[in-house]
Amino acid sequence: MLRNPHPLRQQGWGGCQLVLISIFNNKGGVGKTTYMFHIAHLLERKGKIVLMVDCDIQCNLTAYVLQDNQIEHSWKEKGNSIWRVIELVYEGIGDIRERSPSKINSKCSNLYLVPGDLLLSDYENKLSKTWDSATSGNTSELRVQSAIYR
Ligand SMILES: Nc1ncnc2c1ncn2[C@@H]1O[C@H](COP(=O)(O)OP(=O)(O)OP(=O)(O)O)[C@@H](O)[C@H]1O
Ligand SMILES: [Mg+2]
Repeated sequence: MLRNPHPLRQQGWGGCQLVLISIFNNKGGVGKTTYMFHIAHLLERKGKIVLMVDCDIQCNLTAYVLQDNQIEHSWKEKGNSIWRVIELVYEGIGDIRERSPSKINSKCSNLYLVPGDLLLSDYENKLSKTWDSATSGNTSELRVQSAIYR
């Protein structure tokens, strides 16, 4: 999704092994986001470069770590929210945008966030609608299905 995000690349991201961690539970309100937040900080303290990606349209993780004005900025046309990254794929007029993630704060120099966005709900609808044709080999729908993680 964020190919060669600039600050990460400067720190040798290209040579690192990428480990993807997803927190899943089908029940609501059981602590998924809170757990994710703490795991990310613990890993950063252990010397890892950590990128959090908020794919939840509630944007709770984003609200935990960014100020309101930073969130609003990320939602703007030139912003770096998850929606702004995949927007052109959703519209069917382009591919994913390369936008640098937000740095959390000066105390966590290796912790980054792709901010969540309410508009991602539109993409969720499109994901369900394009599944059948994507699995039948439709390339533009495959692009939609794989926009978040390739
Ligand atoms: N270990 C914990 N002890 C006490 N309270 C907690 C703990 N973990 C989370 N909470 C509280 O429980 C509530 C729900 O947590 P959280 O938002 O992380 O859940 P969630 O599974 O991500 O919810 P959702 O399904 O809505 O995304 C929050 O108010 C949070 O502060
Ligand atoms: Mg949550």
